[in-house]
Amino acid sequence: MSPSVPAYKRVIAIDGPAASGKSSVARKLAQKLEFVYVNSGAMYRALTWHVLQCGVDPHDQAAVAALVEATRFETDLLDQESRILIEGTDPSIHLREVRVNESVSLVSRVPRVRAVLVGRMRAYAMQDDVVMEGRDIGSVVFPHTSYKFYIDASHAIRSQRRAAQGQTDQIALRDEVDSSRSDSPLTVAADAHVVDSSILSIDEVVSEILRCLRARNFSVEAKQVGSCRSVSSQ
Ligand code: DC
Repeated sequence: MSPSVPAYKRVIAIDGPAASGKSSVARKLAQKLEFVYVNSGAMYRALTWHVLQCGVDPHDQAAVAALVEATRFETDLLDQESRILIEGTDPSIHLREVRVNESVSLVSRVPRVRAVLVGRMRAYAMQDDVVMEGRDIGSVVFPHTSYKFYIDASHAIRSQRRAAQGQTDQIALRDEVDSSRSDSPLTVAADAHVVDSSILSIDEVVSEILRCLRARNFSVEAKQVGSCRSVSSQ
């Protein structure tokens, strides 16, 4: 790692489109390795929920940015998983609401929103080894990590997965906005290992990632991580 790169702990980046299975894979991998699991999509969803609660139009980029920059929120850990509290409230139960699904790509395309959240993501990796999932983790947030994975699946399979979860989620529309935005679009990092999860189980994808990590001389050590600790706050 070059001297200009902050002293991050180990980072396993897992990117991919909506409903590719990356959340389940990332969580399971983190549990196996005893790493912290960071769901960056949940952070964008939490701020989107807040934007909607405040009656701000998610299409209005300036208003969204101003609100987010004025919002007090904390990013911490609960049971080795990332958690975000907005003005002291845990919005977890709202993150999969249809209105959040419909607006999260609009909010997350705003560069000032991304700047705020990327700082929090990096703060996690200053303190713990992390498995972090998202859209730009390998390409933008941690471009220097040697452990980058991109989980994909066919559109038909991804749609079926969302339907099976009982969710209304226009994944094609989200993928389009997430891939075409100017700041940190969804992309396959040049050095990412791509895994197609279309016909693989979660365990099979995790095994494939572990195989690839071993091939890159990745070593695993048991570690102790606090169960509920603040990483950074504003
Ligand atoms: O992973 P997810 O589907 O819960 O993510 C929700 C949205 O958040 C996704 O449509 C785009 C945005 N997102 C992002 O822009 N960058 C990330 N690193 C993670 C998510």
